[in-house]
Amino acid sequence: MTSDHNPTTNSGLSAVAKLASAAFKRHSTYDDETSALWKHRSPNSCSEADYLFHYARLAANAHNTQPWLFGRVADAYVIKPDPARRTPVVDPDDHHLYCSLGCATENLLLAANAAGKAASVAFNAEGDGEIQVRLSSEPTANDPLFDAIIDRQCTRSDYSGQPVADAHLRRLSDMPQLSGCELIVITDQPVIEQILELILSANSAQIGDPAFVGELTSWLRFNAASALATRDGLYAPCSGNPTLPNWLAGPVFKTVFTAKSENKKCARQVRSSSGLAIFVSDKCDREHWISSGRNYQRFALQATLLGIKHAFLNQPVEVLQFRKALAALLGIGDRRPDFLVRFGYAEPMPRSLRRPVKQLLF
Ligand SMILES: Cc1cc2nc3c(=O)[nH]c(=O)nc-3n(C[C@H](O)[C@H](O)[C@H](O)COP(=O)(O)O)c2cc1C
Repeated sequence: MTSDHNPTTNSGLSAVAKLASAAFKRHSTYDDETSALWKHRSPNSCSEADYLFHYARLAANAHNTQPWLFGRVADAYVIKPDPARRTPVVDPDDHHLYCSLGCATENLLLAANAAGKAASVAFNAEGDGEIQVRLSSEPTANDPLFDAIIDRQCTRSDYSGQPVADAHLRRLSDMPQLSGCELIVITDQPVIEQILELILSANSAQIGDPAFVGELTSWLRFNAASALATRDGLYAPCSGNPTLPNWLAGPVFKTVFTAKSENKKCARQVRSSSGLAIFVSDKCDREHWISSGRNYQRFALQATLLGIKHAFLNQPVEVLQFRKALAALLGIGDRRPDFLVRFGYAEPMPRSLRRPVKQLLF
């Protein structure tokens, strides 16, 4: 209620009301923006490139850095890394970056198919590398995973603990993987507890590393205004955290972001999940990381269609010592566990933002 309607409101209360109303407006703008973003786009409503890149940008990507550049070169649509959006501390070999490009590629392929175009993918390893997608008008089947692109999200909340029915579990664990990749799905509680130990140890190592915390903090968006200003990064409510003004966020984050509190949260999240999915590559190179990203994106979309939520817990694949321990626990020899994902049932969380397509072009 404004002071116009309530002339007795004292000026202090009025100021608070104004602040609350401004905060509400900012929040509703955030929601308006995400509602407008996470929508299907008709291939007839814009250029083919805009249509394809819209879907590509909705893919999962590490820290929501959106580390991609899109363009058209000769007869191919091209997805290549944006080196300005690397995260060298958590991802020194660009593993997550290329996996993220794989996620975007998969969405682009699904969108091409939905528009009636078959698509083929090639990786040009020269320089920073680029993914080339060529379309043809050969008949192609519309993949139902396309429909889930606008609903998929990484849901970083506690889950319900409800087990996934066997038939749905098989739908996920039997998903075909691209050549050189494997998916391991674990629902056995004692094994999950062993993996949880690794998650917690790796989490403690990361939170104890000021360089890791500094890099992570630079991608945190503590309030709607900050998130809307950059349209990237990790918006606090998407991780179940309250919004804070920037002047308060630094000191509060330093106090509450401790290994103890984060480990407690991780343990709750893992124990309330129905299972873990681990994506593995035969070879440690960019081509395999792109394939692994494509496999994850398809898994995430299939889970979404089945009403199953998921989120990454990548701590043990990000810290070398624990990645080796995880590989030993899984019995996968020298192969690389690319991601660790938990899945189960939960309500949706607020959606994340993406930058406009025109800012993503090279
Ligand atoms: C390679 C890769 C690594 C990721 N690692 C993590 C992670 O360790 N923890 C996490 O909570 N989310 C992780 N994510 C999820 C991203 O943070 C998420 O995709 C991004 O914030 C956008 O949110 P959305 O997927 O809900 O749209 C990862 C995603 C990718 C593709």
